Amino acid sequence: MKKLFLLIFTTFICLNGIAQKFDGLANTPPMGWNSWNKFNCDVNEELIMKMADAMISSGMKDAGYEYIVVDDCWQVSRDENGNIQHDTQRFPHGIKYLADYIHSKGLKFGIYSDAGIKTCQGRPGSRGYEFQDAKTYASWGVDYLKYDWCNTGTQDAKASYSIMRDALYAAGRPIVFSICEWGKSRPWEWAQEVGHLWRTTGDIVDRWDAMIDIVDKQRDLGPYSGPNHWNDPDMLEVGNGGMTIEEYKTHFSLWCMMAAPLMAGNDLSDMSKETLEILTNKELIAIDQDKLGKQAFCFRDNGDYEIWIKKLSNDEKAVCLLNRSDEIKEVMVDFAFLLKSNDDYWTQDPYQLQNYIVRDLWEHKEIKTDKYPTFVKIPPHGVKVYKYIKK
Ligand code: GLA
Repeated sequence: MKKLFLLIFTTFICLNGIAQKFDGLANTPPMGWNSWNKFNCDVNEELIMKMADAMISSGMKDAGYEYIVVDDCWQVSRDENGNIQHDTQRFPHGIKYLADYIHSKGLKFGIYSDAGIKTCQGRPGSRGYEFQDAKTYASWGVDYLKYDWCNTGTQDAKASYSIMRDALYAAGRPIVFSICEWGKSRPWEWAQEVGHLWRTTGDIVDRWDAMIDIVDKQRDLGPYSGPNHWNDPDMLEVGNGGMTIEEYKTHFSLWCMMAAPLMAGNDLSDMSKETLEILTNKELIAIDQDKLGKQAFCFRDNGDYEIWIKKLSNDEKAVCLLNRSDEIKEVMVDFAFLLKSNDDYWTQDPYQLQNYIVRDLWEHKEIKTDKYPTFVKIPPHGVKVYKYIKK
């Protein structure tokens, strides 16, 4: 009896220890850069270091971006002891050298692996090597692991991701765990105790219709997301050339409204003024990073015209008007009404328009809300994003 009590007690302490270790690494959605969307397999040490430099010189670091993540193709084989081997041609000084360089710049370093026997690009996966790989990553100074789902056969997702989570804990270094299972087994229902973020869909493509299709798939997922457990609608395509500036503004706005991880996916060393302005829109980033950690919900779906609302801390609120059509739209906006509308309740108090100022987060200015109704023009595939700020 005594023994049983002791067992239960130690298990409780251990689990508690795990939960504490897990929490706090992603209180707000992670922000950074990942190599995949722009460079695919064409990664190397020089490129990654250049991106780290550019993250700083461009002002991205100051805007909140911190992780530099090398995606697939850094690894080539295992040695006779099963240790994962990096591509020595492309990373001549090894992965620890790269991690050290990134850390010396005040940034954090992320890496990629896969829960199956091979990664999506046919490189060695971590299946069967989870504890060994996690130890290796920790010894290199890895801060973030993106863990993919290719070549997993009949593996169970929750079990597979839990093994790597346990391996990361055992390795002892705090590492953000990014689950990349494409939403196949509804990770939002089980992954809160496993990872800090989970992909909800297949891969994003740098096209308006593909991007908006991902947004549509997030609609019912809001309640599953929050501090340390985020829905991940995939990395950003802003600046990669497949959408117009207006569409990229919409893409970025919606990701911020959805409290999505903001992982830039473009060439940071070669950004247009517009791309940089979008990625470093601090007022929008503050919406994404709001500490309440609420995902926006679609308050009105009028076909081509939607209204999304995100509750913020301090009884503040963000509203995004989305024009999905190919034509400019003029809409009537009742700012007092939108302020009172919420997902869970309707209230007069404390939501009274006279207590707030309203800012346009792309124009970067306060707008007048005393006239009812206000007419607002939204460009094709464009947005208006407003923040209600307490006076
Ligand atoms: C999958 C992932 C992508 C990327 C590639 C790399 O498709 O979903 O984000 O990591 O693999 O091979």
